[in-house]
Amino acid sequence: MATTEDNLFKNVISHAKEYGFIFPSSEIYDGLSAVYDYGQNGAELKNNLKEYWWKFMTLLHDNIVGIDAAIFMHPTTWKASGHVDAFNDPMIDNKDSKKRYRADQLIEGVIEKLEEKIEKEVEKAAKRFDNFDRTMFVSTNARVVEYQKKIDEINERLKTAMANNNMAAMKQLVDDLEIVDPISGTKNWTDVRQFNLMFSTEMGSVADDANKIYLRPETAQGIFVNFLNVQKTGRMKIPFGIAQIGKAFRNEIVARQFIFRMREFEQMEMQFFVKPGEEMKWYEYWKEKRLKWHQALGLGHDNYRYHDHLNLAHYANAACDIQFNFPMGFRELEGIHSRTDFDLKSHEKYSGKKLQYFDSEDNQNYIPYVVETSVGLDRMFLSVLASSYKEEKLEDGSERVVLKIPAPLAPNKVAILPLMKKDGLPEKATEIMNLLKFDFRCFYEEKDAIGKRYRRQDAIGTPYCITVDHQTLQDNTVTIRNRDTMKQERVAIQDVKTIIAESVSMAELLKKI
Ligand code: GAP
Repeated sequence: MATTEDNLFKNVISHAKEYGFIFPSSEIYDGLSAVYDYGQNGAELKNNLKEYWWKFMTLLHDNIVGIDAAIFMHPTTWKASGHVDAFNDPMIDNKDSKKRYRADQLIEGVIEKLEEKIEKEVEKAAKRFDNFDRTMFVSTNARVVEYQKKIDEINERLKTAMANNNMAAMKQLVDDLEIVDPISGTKNWTDVRQFNLMFSTEMGSVADDANKIYLRPETAQGIFVNFLNVQKTGRMKIPFGIAQIGKAFRNEIVARQFIFRMREFEQMEMQFFVKPGEEMKWYEYWKEKRLKWHQALGLGHDNYRYHDHLNLAHYANAACDIQFNFPMGFRELEGIHSRTDFDLKSHEKYSGKKLQYFDSEDNQNYIPYVVETSVGLDRMFLSVLASSYKEEKLEDGSERVVLKIPAPLAPNKVAILPLMKKDGLPEKATEIMNLLKFDFRCFYEEKDAIGKRYRRQDAIGTPYCITVDHQTLQDNTVTIRNRDTMKQERVAIQDVKTIIAESVSMAELLKKI
């Protein structure tokens, strides 16, 4: 069962399907590109992730409240937010393979390769010298200095081309870097064109431009347009936050890597409204808080890192990603953005309505600045699923696949398994299930040998299995099996709830942050 890194992702994807976590959308029609459905176990895990986020935001911060805005918004929203004019990706086609790419990603691929080369030089040197000084080495080694110079040069050209919306300069960069299509192996590229990522549709029965509306590409705008509604009705005082979980839609040019980049996905976003001038303090605060939230899950501190943005979005004056070590490498999991007063100011201009806050301490009106935290729910799901997936060789030579999902997030907390389907064991097991089901999501199963049932529960990440046997009928005890250690203990039925409660508790997880 030994799995190479390359195969791991494929195994995770097929496991997710086989065990009811994720199915391709409308699979009977051969699926729909970059759209997925969550199955019976996936929906539970997803709901638990939402709960973890929602409770962190709205229970642990008395100055954050949650809303649920509509997906459809007045079309001027997207003019004001800049999405109609600037929510574009530079698109390029290879004329031989007929494949479409994001030009900026092709260019970033070259930068990544140069960075890998630097890392290789560093590793080689670190092995050679005892008191290896990385900083000294990278600033003096001729080859590394040359690679770094090239990276800086490419970054600068990319940044300038993007900032000036200069697609000819992007194309020139693709040509100068001699980028070849990985499929056809040729450099036969089209020009680079801007492609707007918003999906549009018509509202009502008259299909003219006036009725054109968009499926929201981010949930944040539903928060901005409700800023004063919430502030006034909730009597909120700055600094305060508005949180929201909901669907977003993007017509991604290149949508692949399973649920990492989809055309329909879910975001968990929080806009934190602050006094102008204090935004950098709160930006640092949320960077640190959000990393702690991720790390509390226990998926490994080394699996996270910050990545500062060089090319800032049209609304930001500072931005960084929290990246996660996905099966395909470190990639963006969450974005933290200092969005300035761009959105509120622009909505004020386009709507003609004042969107200002009266600060009674300073006795002045102002448009607040905003620090945003935005995490993709589906990417969170992938980070948990992929890092929980383990293929284990056991001492007796057998093998198992287990999802070591953090217990509070697991779809089922406990499986209740009568050893046999007779002698009153199912009835006793049902009695125990009725006792526990108000506190934990329980799963009942009486079919197949007990070993096989344990393996099935391991495969869906159930932290505990309770087995009801003949001794249970005599002394009201059961065995309780721990998913991760596979150890079994005999305990009194009356103690089961307490034994399980702490480790599967969302409250306990939240206390770790
Ligand atoms: N409101 C800010 C915003 O939308 P973003 O960096 O474009 O910022 C935020 O997106 C997060 O949404 C990302 O960090 C990622 O987790 C998630 N996300 C973005 N596009 C996605 C896609 N096509 N599929 C899945 N998740 C996506």
